[in-house]
Amino acid sequence: MSSNNSPIGIFDSGVGGLSVLSELVNVLPNERYIYFGDTANLPYGDKTKEELLKISMRIFEFFKVNDVKAVVMACNTTSANVYNILKTKYNFIIYPIIPIIAKYIALGNYDRVGVFATKATVNSHAYKKEIETQSYDTLVYEIACPSWVSMVENSSQYKEQSLKNIKMMMNFMLQYHPDKIILGCTHYPYLLDCLIKYAPCEIFINPAEYFAEYIKKDLEAKNLLCEKMISRPKFYVSADHTKFERASSLFYYVEKAMEVHI
Ligand code: DGL
Repeated sequence: MSSNNSPIGIFDSGVGGLSVLSELVNVLPNERYIYFGDTANLPYGDKTKEELLKISMRIFEFFKVNDVKAVVMACNTTSANVYNILKTKYNFIIYPIIPIIAKYIALGNYDRVGVFATKATVNSHAYKKEIETQSYDTLVYEIACPSWVSMVENSSQYKEQSLKNIKMMMNFMLQYHPDKIILGCTHYPYLLDCLIKYAPCEIFINPAEYFAEYIKKDLEAKNLLCEKMISRPKFYVSADHTKFERASSLFYYVEKAMEVHI
């Protein structure tokens, strides 16, 4: 039976979710975190809904065994495709990134919002549906960037070919004249210093910040905050821990991740 001092589980396909973990640690430093990077199944963006469901259920079972009080879906792709199926299956709290961020964006009443995301997120139109139904005057343009996740995981974002691809995707996006561009995959904030060559920094929304604030407020409201500082985050990956540790450094330096086969 979980309690206030139970851990918070957080997962993604690889290092992307660390952009969320770093914000969570900022606003909720006293919590215990278990991070699961599913590096054996990277990239999630190319997977079918059935595959994503199978993968996510295995991770949720892993968190259940670890007696978590909440699971943070720090992954847009699973949030878009399987949250609605999983939300009633577990008795811990589940925080899905997309509906929470979409609500926040809808409050901005923007005319045009761009979303960069994975193929599976774009195909679900989760951002478009969530934002446009809450803010009638907003038009949402979604663009899939299939190579960006591997750039981040392989730490190859500064290679010439990667920079060319980033420029091309930004050119596509800027044709829509967006007021804001959501980085709708948790890996993409790792590319910010390349993206800001083509548009001002303020145009980009890294959902991690608002997502972490929301989680803090919700745990507070539910009276579920940890009572005291207990431990540092624990990291687990399903394959290649050294590659994960190497790619991690921008948002949260991971000294050691343990490989587990779930
Ligand atoms: N970073 C995840 C997301 O936010 C998944 C990326 C992937 O593995 O394709 O969608």
